Amino acid sequence: MGAIELMCVAGARPNFMKVAPLLRAFADSPRIRATLVHTGQHYDPNLSQVFFSDLGIPPPDIHLNVGSGSHAQQTARIMQAFEPVLEEKKPDFVVVVGDVNSTVACSLVAAKLCYRVAHVEAGLRSFDRTMPEEINRLLTDQLSDLLFVSEESGLANLAREGVPARAVHLVGNVMIDTLARFLSSARARKTPERLGLSPKNFCLATLHRPANVDGREGLLRVLALLEAAGQRLSVVFPVHPRTRARLEEHGLWERLSAARGVRLCEPLGYLDFLSLMDEAAAVVTDSGGVQEETTYLGVPCLTLRPNTERPVTVELGTNELVPLDPVLVGERLERILRGQGKRGSVPPLWDGHAAERIRDVFLKIF
Ligand code: UD1
Ligand code: UDP
Repeated sequence: MGAIELMCVAGARPNFMKVAPLLRAFADSPRIRATLVHTGQHYDPNLSQVFFSDLGIPPPDIHLNVGSGSHAQQTARIMQAFEPVLEEKKPDFVVVVGDVNSTVACSLVAAKLCYRVAHVEAGLRSFDRTMPEEINRLLTDQLSDLLFVSEESGLANLAREGVPARAVHLVGNVMIDTLARFLSSARARKTPERLGLSPKNFCLATLHRPANVDGREGLLRVLALLEAAGQRLSVVFPVHPRTRARLEEHGLWERLSAARGVRLCEPLGYLDFLSLMDEAAAVVTDSGGVQEETTYLGVPCLTLRPNTERPVTVELGTNELVPLDPVLVGERLERILRGQGKRGSVPPLWDGHAAERIRDVFLKIF
């Protein structure tokens, strides 16, 4: 019997910490041969290459170099570039992760050509179709033959959408596999200390959701809340390129750069970001992954969104949803600084072994 051929796809920042443990677990089995396709959705070194070096991911076997564009342009370019790769390599399964445009584009190409698709991080739903990621999640799950779920809410969501239970496996969270593996190396970097920050005495912020940063109204609120937080404690804000571009477009970059207590920087590598997150008094974010990572670390997290596709981080974890309102965010932050932030616990199966469970499902199927 030949090896099981698994073609893994990654394209944007949050994909790399999800494929890293999968590639490692697959490499551990002589029965599996895995390859990595990088779509090139993200291409700046600090949104892509840094994760290969920080996480020890082998270089991609194939790079599609698609770059940025509108949703239709980017999705179409990925599909066009991915189709010949698939036809040439003929894997047994295409393995996609998360909810970005690369995820849905490669799933659609594979399903149309009758290749089987496995979706890691299936079943998450914000029930908000104004989010591009929600469209990507719904479609990817409908196209998938194997669905790996990170938290229990995913099981109910997929059942409701008619996905047969035999295709669905609750395996835990591959992003947490990466965190658990690299936490001690991240701590050893002492990034807060290197930046002159005292532990538990600063706030870490990341914001890049179009609903928060694409319009002037949202940006002004972001600015006001960061300025207010900066009066209270140091705020480290690694700025996503989408956010930076919008701030510059609206002439707000200079004002934010001048805000007292706010330190702007380029997007950080995984280990530096984790080192900061681990020592932060609070994290303010709209990231999907950061909600989960703070829950695992037990660090209070204020998520500036009306909903989350990761409800377990609110039900069991340290996450709180807060409207994009400077006054409300200020109040919640104050509560956290008084030591009254959420405590929380780690969700079931977020134990560092999700990728191994996924590998074992593949081995059982074949
Ligand atoms: C994408 C994902 C989002 C994810 C985020 C993680 C989709 C629809 N969105 O959003 O779910 O949370 O990645 O970070 O897939 N840019 C650069 N350099 C890069 C990449 C992008 O400068 O390496 C700039 C470009 O101006 C680009 C903009 O950022 O137009 C947005 O990039 P894009 O990949 O379209 O969406 P993200 O906002 O990054
Ligand atoms: N992250 C990082 N550097 C940063 C900001 C985030 O390494 O400057 C990591 C973070 O720890 C998490 C992932 O990037 O592992 C989350 O990606 P992102 O917020 O871009 O996407 P989302 O999860 O919202 O789709």
